[in-house]
Amino acid sequence: MDVLRAIAARRAVRDYTDAPVSRESIHELIDAAIQAPSARNRQPWSFAVLHDRDRIAGYAESARQWLLEHHREELGELAPMLEPPGYSLFHHAPALVIILATDDSTQSAEDCCLAAQNLMLAARKKNLGTCWIGLARPWLNVPATKDELGLPAHYPVVAPIIVGHPKHWPDAHERNPPEINWIEG
Ligand SMILES: Cc1cc2nc3c(=O)[nH]c(=O)nc-3n(C[C@H](O)[C@H](O)[C@H](O)COP(=O)(O)O)c2cc1C
Repeated sequence: MDVLRAIAARRAVRDYTDAPVSRESIHELIDAAIQAPSARNRQPWSFAVLHDRDRIAGYAESARQWLLEHHREELGELAPMLEPPGYSLFHHAPALVIILATDDSTQSAEDCCLAAQNLMLAARKKNLGTCWIGLARPWLNVPATKDELGLPAHYPVVAPIIVGHPKHWPDAHERNPPEINWIEG
């Protein structure tokens, strides 16, 4: 699959089969992630991998409850989606890759986002689905959560990305025409 095809075919996947994702596959995705460019080539990223489906489901529930308790206002129209106890923030995925910045200096988050996109495109080439779970970020950045997961306290979480074998590939959302301002003359 060439890169343009992978870009066009990647989708946010929220429905996974029971098949686990191998450690080797996760390594390949992270190898692709770290090929991303980074400001001053600092490579300010770190990866935490959870590949225990039950544990991920448990954390999805903890994060859901925490968000409703602490961020209900900010959730706005998303709050009703999170209300039902059966709602899984991590969509019952078998693996979760958390990309953290190794510091909070200017541009580290951008670097981590580029690594995240590489990871998602590499996953598409391998027929693995991914979805960036931004909703989980505030909970993942809570000191008690970091402690529980063994994440370094001073590494900000940038991109929580679930990975798994899609039950099906969702249809693409239509893209808005890009706003392009040709600066000429
Ligand atoms: C920064 C960011 C945060 C996101 N957060 C969530 C999320 O919390 N839960 C979720 O199900 N999808 C989340 N998504 C997935 C988007 O909803 C999805 O990418 C978008 O609808 C476009 O669909 P596509 O990825 O299939 O093209 C997030 C995507 C990005 C880039």
